[in-house]
Amino acid sequence: MKNLLVTGGAGFIGSNFVRYMLEHHANYTVTVLDKLTYAGNLDNLRDVENDPRYAFVQGDICDADDVRDALRAHHIDTIVNFAAETHVDRSILDADAFLRTNVFGTFVLLEAAKEFGLERYHQISTDEVYGWVDKPATENDPLIPRSPYAAAKASGDLMVNAYHVTHHVPTTITRASNTVGPYQYPEKVVPLFITNALENEPLPLYGDGKQIRDWLYVTDHCEAVDVVLHQGKIGEVYNVGGENERHNVEVVKIILDTLDKSPDLVRRVQDRSGHDRRYSLSIEKMRALGWHPRHSFEQALTETIRWYENNAWWWQKIKSGDYREYYEKQYGERLRTSQAVIV
Ligand code: NAD
Ligand code: DAU
Repeated sequence: MKNLLVTGGAGFIGSNFVRYMLEHHANYTVTVLDKLTYAGNLDNLRDVENDPRYAFVQGDICDADDVRDALRAHHIDTIVNFAAETHVDRSILDADAFLRTNVFGTFVLLEAAKEFGLERYHQISTDEVYGWVDKPATENDPLIPRSPYAAAKASGDLMVNAYHVTHHVPTTITRASNTVGPYQYPEKVVPLFITNALENEPLPLYGDGKQIRDWLYVTDHCEAVDVVLHQGKIGEVYNVGGENERHNVEVVKIILDTLDKSPDLVRRVQDRSGHDRRYSLSIEKMRALGWHPRHSFEQALTETIRWYENNAWWWQKIKSGDYREYYEKQYGERLRTSQAVIV
């Protein structure tokens, strides 16, 4: 393993992973293949753009020629696939791109991995494939995805397994929990609430706010993928969780307290359709590889809040133009019919 293709490397976790791998593996090259959708942003990779071991290619994982050209030109031996449509709310508004990228795009990459005889194909997946759980999910639990996003991700995972079993493609999969940290697009709840609070805008809390997510800091997520690339068993799936399960209202409270903002900013709005109440992962398999999450919930959230406070240049550019249109579609009516809520 030496020459990595990181698909979706201009997004949130992908760009952090590029930085992480360049820092930790002096003799690796890292090529990013990214379509630069609304979520892709070359600002996320500014600090590595002059590194001679890094290259950027704009392209679509659904386009076999884009993928083959990148594999050939950069002598790739390993694909790490972060490319995806990733926002549950957008998958409820329109699932088309989710099916294309998360399912068909995964198939195109697997075909290329087979054709080029790659050393490894690694799929970045999510705890959402297990659906709403009442106890920590293990890797052998059934996949019961409940949103179009989760169903598309689960379909990608099934295709990865099929290519391993049928075509002997050397695959691994990581399924991670809600990740936070620098460069996360401000549509996901943590960066949305931090940046809204910084602008004294309302924080739209879905339903009763008692839904539970397991929070993971982005460098912990990146380290886990690195560990699986080097020590994971071919054909296996690994859960990557932060062991930081919290209700959404607890997340809101920390954001407001840390930024010294009034709880009056929180608005209870109409819930997400099909909203999963709880995600939770058993991470024993990753612990057996020697990995564990290094960040507590408070550390993960505080570091993230501080980054957004200090990097308004990054998110203020994003929160204009097309973003405003999305925001109005997603929150306009919700906020007009919202209620104040005490958190
Ligand atoms: P993101 O939305 O920030 O970034 C996605 C990236 O993929 C963007 O750069 C986008 O331009 C690119 N992309 C989209 N469609 C593409 C296509 N057809 N071809 C090439 N590039 C394309 O996503 P993220 O939050 O960084 O998530 C990355 C991966 O991690 C996804 O597979 C997601 O399902 C998974 N994941 C995310 C989380 C989380 O909390 N964010 C948790 C677990 C798993
Ligand atoms: O669990 C891993 C998944 O985490 C990833 O696979 C997804 O790509 C990522 O988007 C994330 O999905 P969630 O749906 O859990 O994340 P989101 O930030 O959208 O929502 C987190 C919680 O906050 C969820 O219970 C819904 C709630 N929420 C979200 C938004 C955007 C609100 O209350 N208000 C909001 O405005």
